[in-house]
Amino acid sequence: MNSKLTIEDVEISGQRALVRVDYNVPLQEGTSTISDDTRIKASIPTLKHLINKGCSLVLCSHLGRPEGKRYPGLSLKPIATRLGEILEQKIQFVEDCVSEEAAATASKLGKGEILLLENLRFHRGEEENNLAFAEQLSELAEVFINDAFGAAHRAHASTSGITKFLPSYAGLLLDKEVTYLENALKNPKLPFTAMLGGAKVSDKINVVNRLTKIASNICIGGGMAATFLAASNKEIGNSSIEADFIGLAQALLNEKTSNNVNLILPIDVVVVKTFLKDSDFLAKSVGDLDDDDIIVDIGPTTADYYSSIIQKSETILWNGPMGVYEWEKARAGTHSVAKALANGSMLSIIGGGSTVAAVNFFGLQAQMTHVSTGGGASLELLEGKELPGVASLRDKTEG
Ligand code: 3PG
Repeated sequence: MNSKLTIEDVEISGQRALVRVDYNVPLQEGTSTISDDTRIKASIPTLKHLINKGCSLVLCSHLGRPEGKRYPGLSLKPIATRLGEILEQKIQFVEDCVSEEAAATASKLGKGEILLLENLRFHRGEEENNLAFAEQLSELAEVFINDAFGAAHRAHASTSGITKFLPSYAGLLLDKEVTYLENALKNPKLPFTAMLGGAKVSDKINVVNRLTKIASNICIGGGMAATFLAASNKEIGNSSIEADFIGLAQALLNEKTSNNVNLILPIDVVVVKTFLKDSDFLAKSVGDLDDDDIIVDIGPTTADYYSSIIQKSETILWNGPMGVYEWEKARAGTHSVAKALANGSMLSIIGGGSTVAAVNFFGLQAQMTHVSTGGGASLELLEGKELPGVASLRDKTEG
């Protein structure tokens, strides 16, 4: 991120910092056991930087969507425990983010000590971007650091309103995320290939639209491939499509020549007759689909073709699995894309929640250049939208 001041640009030694993190981590169903702590680990560089500067830290986050009510199942307390294990230090915790207890505990923090506040969304004021709520939060600290990239597309009290009350800077994770995702689209080393999948075209259409003007190749997979195949008059059997988006998909397919981008659709697919993981799975050319076939993955020929495109690319942006990778027999397409990326030396940027989950599932995250912690936030950034949580931070020109 070139335009916003980060914690490396400013002198904040010894201050009490309110740090917005995104600890909205997945929990095992019906329990408070954290099933993936990637987002907690991703915040550590910022926390360590601030600790090394002698700051005391008040951390705040949301978890889930409690909509202003207190749900014990969405408490951040288990996250305090996990963070304590990772940092090997005691993490203090208060059960209300804006309370006398929070103010008193924050005021007593010594250098390097950490307090985690209870779920911000237990208060309606958070999502309503209520300024009185933001002001109460701001009273807990002298400086605000936003490191919650995953929540930066939300204009909430702890990501936007708060910046009216405290000098506000970017944390290291927020900075890294914005830098990778923005640079990928501004100055990509060519050939630049976008691998786009996932269930819905509607989620990605703005990204596809923007990428047609930038990328050398766009390879389409996942559930959204069916809408593109239908738009190019291919048989899609009984696969679900988004009829409202056929026209847009057609326009993108027609524009591709003028934009000089190869917009590539699957040439073969894996299909089932019933959408169940223990159905019979069959690979077929897209021309050979029966009326009752449902597409669940790209086929082996397409997977090899996409992998060969990946191998010839210098920059890859991947957003959206190529099929229902959670099912063993519909996993090969997503796995082969992940392997081609992992084995290559190109710059690989993985954006979006389910893509990251897939890469983690295959254990290949360490081989990628950048794995984003943001789902909605990374999509909005790739669409070219301004993120409120970034826009409200101090500009470098403000010094
Ligand atoms: C996410 O998981 O994408 C972020 O934490 C934002 O969560 P939200 O969609 O509930 O605002």
